[in-house]
Amino acid sequence: MIGGRFDSEFSSFLRTLKQKNDIVEVVRSYVAVDRKGGNYWACCPFHHEKTPSFAINEGEQFYHCFGCQESGDVIKFVQEIESTDFMGAVRILASRVKMTVPESNFDTEEAARKKKKRDAMAKILLDSARFYLGNLYSGDAKADPYLQYISNRGLAPTTVKKFGLGASLDFYSLPDYLAGKGYFKEDLIDSGVLGASEKNGRLYDALGERLIFPIINAFDEVIGFGGRKLEKVKFGKYKNTKETMLFDKSKTLYNVNLLKKLKREQSLQEVIFVEGYMDTISLYQAGFKNVVATMGTSLTKEQARLAKRYTDNVLISYDGDFAGQNADLRGLEILKDAGLHVRVVPMPDGLDPDDVAKQGADAYQQCLDNAMPVIDYRLHTLERKFDLDKTEEKRRFIGEALKIVRDAESESEREVLLKKIRDKTGITYQSLERDLQNVKKEVTSAEPQDFKERMAETASGTDKQQKAKRFILAARLFSAPYAMGVSVTDLPLKDETHIIIARYIADREEQGERIRPSELFEFLDENCAEFNAILDLNYGDKLSGGVAERFFADSLKTLQLESIEEEIAELNQQYAQATEEEARKQIAVKLSQCIQKRKALKKA
Ligand code: UTP
Ligand code: MN
Repeated sequence: MIGGRFDSEFSSFLRTLKQKNDIVEVVRSYVAVDRKGGNYWACCPFHHEKTPSFAINEGEQFYHCFGCQESGDVIKFVQEIESTDFMGAVRILASRVKMTVPESNFDTEEAARKKKKRDAMAKILLDSARFYLGNLYSGDAKADPYLQYISNRGLAPTTVKKFGLGASLDFYSLPDYLAGKGYFKEDLIDSGVLGASEKNGRLYDALGERLIFPIINAFDEVIGFGGRKLEKVKFGKYKNTKETMLFDKSKTLYNVNLLKKLKREQSLQEVIFVEGYMDTISLYQAGFKNVVATMGTSLTKEQARLAKRYTDNVLISYDGDFAGQNADLRGLEILKDAGLHVRVVPMPDGLDPDDVAKQGADAYQQCLDNAMPVIDYRLHTLERKFDLDKTEEKRRFIGEALKIVRDAESESEREVLLKKIRDKTGITYQSLERDLQNVKKEVTSAEPQDFKERMAETASGTDKQQKAKRFILAARLFSAPYAMGVSVTDLPLKDETHIIIARYIADREEQGERIRPSELFEFLDENCAEFNAILDLNYGDKLSGGVAERFFADSLKTLQLESIEEEIAELNQQYAQATEEEARKQIAVKLSQCIQKRKALKKA
């Protein structure tokens, strides 16, 4: 864990690693570099450009792009260009100069054991992928239905190869094949490719008799498989490799490997998110190569973060029956939270991207051209549920539509949406606006006073909370006596920098090690503005004395309040959405408890 990176052995290792990896040479191994004046110049590998604005300072060993403002040292460079994390970059650079990354004292054995396990599993998975692929072209008659199926679904041989599709022809050939390679039984099972029969322990192919889709990570490692039954089945049409050390579906995006390659070749305006394997492959074949699949599950934070390494814009292209269920659409907030800009691609009813792509690239392009912001999409799907020629249905539509408008993020967005409803229904803008006021009152009637207060506080509140978080972290980081014993990991932190600092503090304390703020430069950019703001608090005597102590206590209270405000906001939303009397009652009870707590806290 984090602690391991900080022992002095590791620090001196990092220094040598950086000395041996000259930044000019490392950059040159990815892009052409020219010498001009005292500096080296290249076309920036992080944004698309034709004239070089990426400067490398050889003396100081850092780069800066005047086009996109990216800058950093050689480790940061590799992190960015390989889309990996700090340790990933360290490993790449170490192997480049044939250095061994030292394992930290306390986890050497554990890490070595894990690495060995991981390597064995990765080898088994790769071997299995090759085996499945070989089956397809083995000439075995049992492979015919698979080849037939692939061709029926319109996949060209080059596409099949690109995605490494294969086939499992029965349940026992794979275990026989792998047995011949001398793998340990335990590793075979742990890798997820084989299962062991409960009765006699005999090993079998976990995805036996299925069309195989290898799932490959950003480092081109096979980490698992999806397997599809050819014939119609009631359930379990697809089965995936079980969760393993290598394969965690919630942290994976299907096709991220080819997406990474694509990003190296061209600028990525946006990434299309689909649900399924076949959607991905069909779109890719139709020329929409910037596509990844969430593999059927609802989106996770990790998937959003993974995508953010490649793009700022996401197009959600789920099945037509994704239906704009509000619950599903709320799941998209996860993308926004990761800093991604999201639009939804409307799909013809009952069709998935694969169905549309089969009609031709133009047909799918048309869908893309109609992509719209999430809130507009909610309105769009709502409209389809009502017959607006009927007065009663129109009335109900307006009621529901205004609830959507209520969630608008800005006045201008609200105005655009109201105008849309006006155009669809013929009701005047003024009366819609008045109705909107009533809808708003309805929601807030549970606690109108508190709700207003909360709204008034939010603007200045965030600033106050930010200051409180900085102060608490600074006090802990510089070991102010009044701050001892306060657990930083329990704070409602959201800022990435804050989270790293909190983890560092917790980690050092757990190891019984001293906290050294300067060590954080290993994790944070030297010009990380947020970190600088926290370091600033250590100058003068901002952190010492009675005033500081009181400010610290106040800050803690501010954050406790923030947590409870969040809970209240969440409950308010649940309340507005609940339709059943009983559910509403229960939420109201919780809500009033929270409001009590908040009152007590404010008085304290
Ligand atoms: P779909 O059923 O929409 O898949 O599930 P699809 O790709 O359109 O399937 P076909 O081949 O065209 O009929 C979407 C995704 O959800 C996951 C798979 O990743 C699938 O591609 N899934 C679906 C499962 O993991 N298990 C299942 O039983 C079904
Ligand atoms: Mn499909």
